[in-house]
Amino acid sequence: MTVRLHRSPSLAVADYAYAASVPATARLVHLAGACPLDPEGTTIAPGDYEAQAHAVVVNLRQALADLGADLTDIVSHRVLVASSNQADLVRVWDVVRTAFGDHDVPSTLMGVTVLGYPGQVVEVEAVAVLPQTPLPSDGVFDDARLAAVYDALDPDRSDLNLYVDIAQELGARSVLDVGCGTGTLATVLAGRGCDVVGVDPAGASLDVARRKPHADRVTWLHGDAAAAAREIPGPGADLAVMTGNVAQVFVTDEAWEANLRAIASLLRPGGYLVFETRIPERRAWESWNARDSLVSADVPGIGRVESWHELLDVRAETVTFRNHTRFADGVTIPAESTLRFRSREQVTTSLARCGFLVREVRDAPDRPGKEYVVLAQRVE
Ligand SMILES: C[S@@+](CC[C@H](N)C(=O)[O-])C[C@H]1O[C@@H](n2cnc3c(N)ncnc32)[C@H](O)[C@@H]1O
Repeated sequence: MTVRLHRSPSLAVADYAYAASVPATARLVHLAGACPLDPEGTTIAPGDYEAQAHAVVVNLRQALADLGADLTDIVSHRVLVASSNQADLVRVWDVVRTAFGDHDVPSTLMGVTVLGYPGQVVEVEAVAVLPQTPLPSDGVFDDARLAAVYDALDPDRSDLNLYVDIAQELGARSVLDVGCGTGTLATVLAGRGCDVVGVDPAGASLDVARRKPHADRVTWLHGDAAAAAREIPGPGADLAVMTGNVAQVFVTDEAWEANLRAIASLLRPGGYLVFETRIPERRAWESWNARDSLVSADVPGIGRVESWHELLDVRAETVTFRNHTRFADGVTIPAESTLRFRSREQVTTSLARCGFLVREVRDAPDRPGKEYVVLAQRVE
């Protein structure tokens, strides 16, 4: 959602815009004053104007991140400084102003007698604008900051070799990569001469994909398989793939089977759909905790990033978890996902209902015994 900043040609040149406007459909959110508190609720750097200004910016960004927003989604703010000395106000202002960069929203800078927490001398109130709809359940792939570090946090993509080998084995010349994400496989296959369409509803991941070698040889589609079926004329692909457990993002049977039918319509008769799905009995979610799932990376231009999972809910066949990604500036971005764990029989019967015959189920060589790799042929 874009915040438009308005300058005034008549008023004095100021270090902030004179007004900000948002589209009529915008959803506004009024944030509590951001305070310089650590996670235990203790005041950071009591009495230190600059240190508290930095801490307040970090906490403000965290509150926004929890809503899927960032500083650039702020419409206006008010900077409160407990001091009667104007120089203290300016010291705080300089920190806040630098954090906002070009997004110099309308602001009020005020000296107040006292603030609420012991030793607190800085607080920033803000009004922000939010996306129209909540983050999708797999928002981890559609947030520009998260998409930018996705590959660095998962650098070993030897899981994709399996698909490259199968494409070669089947002699596939045209490939549809459903849920292509940041496009690692799509660009590798394009580099090997395949005609590739990569489709994904996460625009931020596609932006990363478009910057990879051979990306110019891939047709990128923003959407799902049904959208691809509307855009691509006639059945044609030799092979469709869903790597990285994309098959599990379809939680309901309706969504899963609609996806399969759309893929079937995009394959030539006799074409193959190949995908993996975790074997439920292996209970992969048992290691989706902060200790066992922690990964980190030093990302050029971004700095140290850490990521881990928190298990939220395990039901009959679905598992909900929250992924946390912490950046060097102290901001942690949460993103929730729900995955469906289908049995081999459920996979086979759902494929049959959608015009596929399972020809083979393999083991993933890099994850032996953990996943079904399903090779299904379009038979109708
Ligand atoms: C774990 S990632 C795997 C990405 C990529 N295939 C890989 O191996 O790196 C799951 C992907 O599924 C995508 N996705 C979510 N819902 C989808 C849908 N309805 N149709 C197609 N892809 C979807 C996500 O945006 C995300 O890119």
